[in-house]
Amino acid sequence: MHVPVDTFAPWRCPNENGDRHHVLLIDEVDNLLIDDDPNPFIAFRQNMMWWQFATANAMSDENIVQLVRELDLAIADADGTGFHFTPMTRQEKLSDELGFTALGGVWVKDETHNVAGSQKARHLMSILLHLLIAEELKMTPWASRATRPPLAISSCGNAAIAAATLAAAVNWPIDVFIPEWADGIVVDTLAKLGARIHRCPRRDNDLPGDPTVLRFREAVTAGAIPFSVQGPENALCLDGGRTIGWEMAEQLRAENLHHLTAVYVQVGGGAFAASLSRGLSESGFDVPLVAVQTAGCAPLERAWKSARDVADCASEWATHMWPWEEPPTSLADGILDDETYDWVADTQQLRRTNGRVVVACEEDVVRAASIGPNLTAIQSSATGTAGLAGLLSERAVTGDSDRVALVLSGISRH
Ligand SMILES: Cc1ncc(COP(=O)(O)O)c(C=O)c1O
Repeated sequence: MHVPVDTFAPWRCPNENGDRHHVLLIDEVDNLLIDDDPNPFIAFRQNMMWWQFATANAMSDENIVQLVRELDLAIADADGTGFHFTPMTRQEKLSDELGFTALGGVWVKDETHNVAGSQKARHLMSILLHLLIAEELKMTPWASRATRPPLAISSCGNAAIAAATLAAAVNWPIDVFIPEWADGIVVDTLAKLGARIHRCPRRDNDLPGDPTVLRFREAVTAGAIPFSVQGPENALCLDGGRTIGWEMAEQLRAENLHHLTAVYVQVGGGAFAASLSRGLSESGFDVPLVAVQTAGCAPLERAWKSARDVADCASEWATHMWPWEEPPTSLADGILDDETYDWVADTQQLRRTNGRVVVACEEDVVRAASIGPNLTAIQSSATGTAGLAGLLSERAVTGDSDRVALVLSGISRH
């Protein structure tokens, strides 16, 4: 089923009936259009669904650019930084430590100084832009800012902080559903940003799955806007997520690098890996995606094993993807989503790029959390170094002259 691009709030597949076992695909970009601008949401705007939504509803490009610039100023006011191309460089010490030759090495994209300290704001920005454009065009069911429905998100850390940061920038009320065990620093940060915090213990009569997701869905049913970083909750999050892949491709080309052996990406809900890899592919870089999970929670690996050759795997959702049965555990606690919600989009990119799923043992997760920040000076959390853990797991079987990329993200808040 196709949802026309001029539709307001195209969050989910219209056939979705409450189980979220549906996928709304983002149109593929065949010919990436790039403007010279430091803000990726301006440089790449024409390739994104929110821009196409605006122009299909007769908003001029000039007005769109002005709206993005004003929003970015408000974000910079709330966060200290607006959107910009984040740095990507070959990390010398890390490459040496891992035994790469001068021909090969590890290229690291640093997302720790992105808006709200991680890549998460990229996913949410495309949803926020859609909403603000719809308000500007008077297409929303609410008539004024005073009657806006709240935004809602479920998350244990970086995504919640990114959502609350963007919401604070535009003064939009937000309900954040967090685990019972959520970290004090995360909760303090959310409180400072003015988010309404809901801790979510598991209830006796809960269905299987993450209770923060269950409570979030109840809020959405009651009228909240899914300000989510999970594609099945809001497909537009996969739109802005591609900016990181497009940026990487531009930055590699600027270094005259036209080929990578692999890109290692830590996977929790799966939106990050899917959209990063999709962005690279749309830029003409078919880099094998190596999706990294931890031994303490690896539902994508299970799904990849059974669904890799199933063309329409979405129609067999429950056969391949279901909540991890054991309580998920790892130092990389931000990727312990008990389901890989975006597993269909991940599977597509794994297939397309001839990629694979790697399950890092906890020892490698711990080592990555130590050598990542120490050898790169990028203060990333253990969640954000988990992609590196995947590289450590495979290092014995990869070539010394391989050129690999990964993303260090999720600024360490301790
Ligand atoms: C720093 C960091 N990297 C990667 C991820 C994984 O992203 P996704 O949940 O989209 O797979 C997260 C998610 O919480 C994160 O915080």
